[in-house]
Amino acid sequence: MVGDTIVDWYAGAARDLPWRRPGVDAWAVLVSEVMLQQTPVARVEPVWREWMDRWPTPGHLAAVAPADVIRAWGKLGYPRRALRLRETAVAVVERHGGVVPDDVAALEALPGIGTYTARAVACFGYGQPQPVVDTNVRRVVARLVHGWAEAGNARAADLTDIGALAPTDTARATRFSVAVMELGALVCVARTPRCGACPVRDRCAWRLAGSPVHDGPAKRV
Ligand code: ADE
Repeated sequence: MVGDTIVDWYAGAARDLPWRRPGVDAWAVLVSEVMLQQTPVARVEPVWREWMDRWPTPGHLAAVAPADVIRAWGKLGYPRRALRLRETAVAVVERHGGVVPDDVAALEALPGIGTYTARAVACFGYGQPQPVVDTNVRRVVARLVHGWAEAGNARAADLTDIGALAPTDTARATRFSVAVMELGALVCVARTPRCGACPVRDRCAWRLAGSPVHDGPAKRV
């Protein structure tokens, strides 16, 4: 199975990122995902560490003045995210007694939390086998499943496509979500994919199609 192959690859190739370590709770995952949305990993790492040391729970962050939150956000950019994260913390305290909910619908109902972040928290924070689809995952599925060069349309990499690739075992299906994301971040990158390092290159529809640089109009269904 393609999904199992990707999970096995992840075990040996994944980056050791602090928010992926065992014991990291759902709030820490949520903070990391908001920071990572528009900022590269290397810049997020030190700020995330400092932030989690200072405000380890939603209750801590909810009690801080907005100006302090903006200052701590530092150079991450798009500082409105800092204020929204604080609003998320306030809502977690008011609606859920300070505990991040483990239910995707309750997560999506929080201010500033969309489909992606809700599923990322449920999957990476609570170990649920949720499909988690970001830009990297869309590109992997566009190529691997559909044979497209780019994920430039809404059909590519939707939740059904990625769900069909996932292993059936729950723990492996959970790891699969982060594994596909990592494959897209490290190997199946946008401009010059490193197909020689790809664990599923022999089963990739895009490679079988001759690795076209651009998609013809017929493929943009
Ligand atoms: N691991 C989990 N979520 C991630 C993200 N958004 N970027 C990089 N690594 C991650």
